[in-house]
Amino acid sequence: MAEENKTTKTPRTSRKKKEEVKTNNTPSTSLLREHAEQQFAAEIAELEKVDKRHRPPNWKLSPWAVTTYLLGGELENGFEISPKYIGDRRIIEIAVATLTTDRALLLIGVPGTAKSWVSEHLSAAISGDSTLLIQGTAGTSEEAIRYGWNYAKLLADGPSMAALVSSPLMRAMEDGKIARVEELTRIPADVQDTLITILSEKTLPIPELGSEVQANKGFSVIATANDRDKGVNDLSSALKRRFNTVVLPLPKTAEEEVEIVQRRVETLGRALELPAEPPALTEIRRIVTVFRELRSGVTEDGKTKIKSPTSTLSTAEAISVVNSGMALAAHFGDGSLSAGDVASGLIGAVVKDPVQDKLVWREYLETVVKERDGWGDLYRACREVS
Ligand SMILES: Nc1ncnc2c1ncn2[C@@H]1O[C@H](COP(=O)(O)OP(=O)(O)OP(=O)(O)O)[C@@H](O)[C@H]1O
Ligand SMILES: [Mg+2]
Repeated sequence: MAEENKTTKTPRTSRKKKEEVKTNNTPSTSLLREHAEQQFAAEIAELEKVDKRHRPPNWKLSPWAVTTYLLGGELENGFEISPKYIGDRRIIEIAVATLTTDRALLLIGVPGTAKSWVSEHLSAAISGDSTLLIQGTAGTSEEAIRYGWNYAKLLADGPSMAALVSSPLMRAMEDGKIARVEELTRIPADVQDTLITILSEKTLPIPELGSEVQANKGFSVIATANDRDKGVNDLSSALKRRFNTVVLPLPKTAEEEVEIVQRRVETLGRALELPAEPPALTEIRRIVTVFRELRSGVTEDGKTKIKSPTSTLSTAEAISVVNSGMALAAHFGDGSLSAGDVASGLIGAVVKDPVQDKLVWREYLETVVKERDGWGDLYRACREVS
């Protein structure tokens, strides 16, 4: 029990750092990864300044400003807000509108469709805090969702508010903020149901103290769930009814996907201070093309059918193929991304099942990559690796 108790409290790291204001393109921090509200503090502050629209109780920004923060745009004073989510505007509008009602938001989609990313940025823009997070696993306990006890205090003084260790969800209720539940469907069904009272009654009973914590205005929950995990612990219909579900799709067009990869690789490269030049668009376009063709089972021109591998080939993986390629280029190459730098990453992303996927990849390599104009270097680099 005492062990479990530890997991109920996520560490609130580097509070002081949070107050520093930074611009979003200088890596003026020693942190490996900043929270969204730290990294984009300047953008949020600028939006707060120009935002004259109605803000729901306890929201830092109006729904319009939150949407602008996510989708990017130029403010009337000329300040540029970078896009965080690239895709259908309506999806973000529906997500934001949901959070202004008494319903919670459930983001679902295949792996790597930015569910966690959107959830983090929404909480950063709405509550200024994306850290009230519960990571769902098969081992997530009720205490992780409700509260636990500091057993030393409990034994010494008996049950009291001081001996209670609140969960991120409880803190979100007290402060009127957004709580995030990651991978909701991985949580065992009976533990998931703990959320029902919280979401419908907006209260968290503490029977040991004959007391309760009532949610303040501004409280809501953003949960994420992976399509592929569905069925493992399918959501109960009672819980489902308390959520508005928004599906995050795979990028519709190749251009959209190229833009996502390009933007993320640029920011990641900057944050990691990789001494490599940003990759050429043509190299990113090639990788995205390989991913999209294998995913859809047909070549871009629609002429050749190909087999799809078992791997998900998400945009997130395309980002990491380019990123690892850049690290190779920076430290062991000439600093600019070449086919040789991406080949092994590409094969690693495609071939997850050593037998089946290997055949699929071989066939794709020999029938598509080999024959395509200007792809000779990629073909040779992949042949060398596999
Ligand atoms: N439409 C998109 N717009 C912007 N970024 C995107 C988009 N799709 C994917 N990404 C990028 O992909 C990366 C992975 O996203 P994220 O981890 O949020 O995926 P996820 O849906 O939570 O996946 P999983 O189901 O594996 O948890 C992020 O870095 C994000 O920037
Ligand atoms: Mg996720």
